[in-house]
Amino acid sequence: MAQDVLIPGSSVLEVGYHSGLMACYLAATYRVHVTGYDTRLEYKRDADRNAAALDVATLVDFRVCAATDTTSLAGEYDAVFMKSVLANVTTRDAYVAWLRWVRSVLRPGGLFIAVENGRGGAIHRAYRRLTRRGWSDNLLMTAERVDDFRDVFDRVDVRHFGRVTPFLSFSATASRLGTWLEKRVLPTTADTSLVSVVVARRR
Ligand SMILES: C[S@@+](CC[C@H](N)C(=O)[O-])C[C@H]1O[C@@H](n2cnc3c(N)ncnc32)[C@H](O)[C@@H]1O
Repeated sequence: MAQDVLIPGSSVLEVGYHSGLMACYLAATYRVHVTGYDTRLEYKRDADRNAAALDVATLVDFRVCAATDTTSLAGEYDAVFMKSVLANVTTRDAYVAWLRWVRSVLRPGGLFIAVENGRGGAIHRAYRRLTRRGWSDNLLMTAERVDDFRDVFDRVDVRHFGRVTPFLSFSATASRLGTWLEKRVLPTTADTSLVSVVVARRR
């Protein structure tokens, strides 16, 4: 689905570009024009440096905005990309408002590609509580969040990753065992994943 939209010359918005490396990757791989918004000038400086080093400066435009202004930005893009940005949202109303805003800046037929942190299963949640990861109380991906995407967009495809494998990354053999377990015995679901990829289309 993404290949229909990520064609040379198309326009992509990335919110939360940080290092800018994903925007540079999209620009270099698909020859798309990427406009990025993030909240700190030092991120823009780093991202500009990365774009120059990777020879895609003419394809990317990194901008800075106040966090509270992002969802008021206007535009018309073929695709919107975000990774680990919705994980900052703390209420359902705000989450749905973000999704509606993304839809509003997509052209008809446009795609929202979101790579988001999942809430994870019981062990992940216990680990986060122990390590006091405050953001883990935010609205991470769950089946309810997938329903929010389905309420706002016209078609939603989603894949979930990392139920067992994150605990087994210490060795290649253990990782292979984890992958096998996830495929055959313990499939990763919306409510147990560590990472989810959502591709949502506006008709
Ligand atoms: C966890 S980091 C992820 C960075 C990058 N996308 C990645 O995955 O490596 C979240 C990013 O989103 C940015 N961000 C958070 N809220 C934002 C907002 N309202 N508007 C624009 N950027 C925002 C943060 O400044 C930060 O760069």
